[in-house]
Formats: sequence, C-alpha cells, structure tokens
Amino acid sequence: MSQAATLVLRRPDDFHVHLRQDADLGAYAREASRVFARVLVMPNLVPPILEAADVAKYRSGILEAAPGMEPLMAFKLLPRHTPAQLAALKAAGAIAGKVYPEGVTTNSEDGITDLRQIWPLMPALEELGLVVCCHGEKPGVFSLDREERFLDEFAETAQRFPGVRLVLEHVSTAAAVSRVRALGSNVAATITLHHLEITLDDVIGGNLKPHLFCKPIAKRPSDRDALREAAFSGDPKFFFGSDSAPHHKGKKECAAGCAGVYSMPVALEGLVDVFDRAGHLDRLDAFCSEFGAGFYGLPRNHGTVTLRREPWTVPDIVDGVVPYRALEQMPWRVATLDHSANPVNVA
Ligand code: DOR
Ligand code: ZN
Repeated sequence: MSQAATLVLRRPDDFHVHLRQDADLGAYAREASRVFARVLVMPNLVPPILEAADVAKYRSGILEAAPGMEPLMAFKLLPRHTPAQLAALKAAGAIAGKVYPEGVTTNSEDGITDLRQIWPLMPALEELGLVVCCHGEKPGVFSLDREERFLDEFAETAQRFPGVRLVLEHVSTAAAVSRVRALGSNVAATITLHHLEITLDDVIGGNLKPHLFCKPIAKRPSDRDALREAAFSGDPKFFFGSDSAPHHKGKKECAAGCAGVYSMPVALEGLVDVFDRAGHLDRLDAFCSEFGAGFYGLPRNHGTVTLRREPWTVPDIVDGVVPYRALEQMPWRVATLDHSANPVNVA
C-alpha cells in the first residue's frame, strides 16, 4: 500500500456504462462525468438504440446533461441489421455494436441465441472498423456456467474474423481470462470494479444482498483472483468497464429484482482502493486510461483527476439508487478535476 497522501491520475475512461433514459439520464450522466472523460454507453434502453437516429438523439441528450464528458456510442447489434444501416450508425458516431444473447440480462429479450448469427455482418463491421462488444453468456445454461459456455463461439468468431475487434464484456471467470489471453490481438475484455472484489458468497452466502446482484453473477474466489491478476498484470487486453447499472431501490428490493450494480458513485475511488491495497497503484493509469483507448484506437485523454487519502462514507442512496459500497468507508476521495492539466503518471 502506498503512503502517499495524494494521487494524480490521467482522466480515465469507462468502456461500459448504463446511463438509462428519460428522467433518469441526466443524473446518471452527471454522476459519470464527475471523473470520467469518456464513457462507452450501452444501448439496452426501451426501445433500444438500434438506428443512426437513435444514436444521434441519445448522444445529444447525454451531452446536454453532462457537457464535460464525451459519450462514446454503442448500438444494439442484431442479425437483421444491414451493411447500409451499419454505415449510417458509424456516420452517426457509433464506435461499437453490442451483442446481447437472448434473455441473459436487462432488456435482452430480443437478443441472439448464438454469436454465429452475426457472422454475415462481420465483413461490413470490419470494413467500418466497428468494435463488437459481447455480453458473454449463453442463454439457457445454468447461471454459473453461462460465461464459460459462451467462450467457444466467441473464440471461433474471433479466429474466423481476425480483422474485427471483439470485446468480451465484464469477464467474471478465470476461464474467460485465459481464453482472452490466448486469442489474438483483435480480442480484449473489460473488467468491472465489483467483479474485482466480490464473489457469489457476497451476494448469497449470508443474507441476500440484492444490490450486489448482477449479470454475469459474481463467481468463485479463484475466478475473482484471476480477474485481479489480469487487471494488475499490465496486459493491454484487459481494461476498465464499470458496468455501472443503476436500478431504482424498489426495483432491486423486491420479489423479482433487476440485475445491476450501481458502482459509478465510487468507481474511481474503488479502483484506487483495490489497486492500492494490492500494491499495484502503478498499474492503474494503464488499466483505466490507456489500454481501452489503445484498443479502440482513441487518443489518450487530456486532464487529470487528483485523489486525496481522506476517508469518507458512501451515501446510502444516490439519485434513488443504492450505490455499490453504500455506507462503507472509502479511504480515497476525489479532490479536483483539471480538464487541461498535462497528466504525469503516478509513481
Ligand atoms: O447486471 C447487469 N445489469 N448486467 C448487464 O449486463 C446489464 C445491466 C443492466 O442494464 O441493468
Ligand atoms: Zn452492462
């Protein structure tokens, strides 16, 4: 653990967030803009972000709410998209298509049953340079095995189309980590803050903790340790995507609760804590502001965020949602954001 009292990081990226829509969008977008310079925004709205016009409208709504943050746009990629639609989506500002297997998470009822269903679109995706982001779980499989059972079709797709970049989102198993490592440079993975910390026992091992319930569900200690090793390793295939997924308190504390952890209110503070406790603070800048940008072919952000070692207590509720680590003490606090400072890496 470092003894330093302050920490200066490059303003980071979050390559997987849910900002929702309508009356909720403004607050969630502003919360993300508290520290993140760019966020890749997920398209699982109702109705979903499917067309160029949806991307343009959603993007301007986010920019209006949080002018200091650049929204990177993703659309829900379906087998019925045409190459012309994909070109229009790209022209409207989309950088990625998100694939949801059927029924595996929030608003995915219209999803695919097999990744091979999007193979006919791969030449167009390659030509346009659109990244394919995959929620990597196989529908209909026992929940603890869903991610692992998705890996073969993911690997087959990545190997057959080496010119298409694929991201396996929010990896939750040691099996996924080793498969991503073994695949080519067209493959990367995002890792969330909560999957670096919790296991299934934190969700159901004692009293039921609905605010830690998410998809993919947190797994074994050995899986979490593999994720931590990947995040700390300095391997550019692994970068930060929070999967911050707010659901109102009443939608979590009920008979059929929604999946999603609202980590945004503590995202960077939590990452600093995890990396610091593991003695790997020197790897954090790369994990949350270099590797993702590199994979997506984006420049690194300008500006810095300064954190101070100063304990604070996470609120019990933020904008109607119970945040990750609610009422817990966090050792690091975000002190200042400087949009123009020239980042100097932490020691
Ligand atoms: O837990 C999750 N919540 N996982 C996802 O993949 C989606 C997200 C949501 O949109 O609520
Ligand atoms: Zn997500």
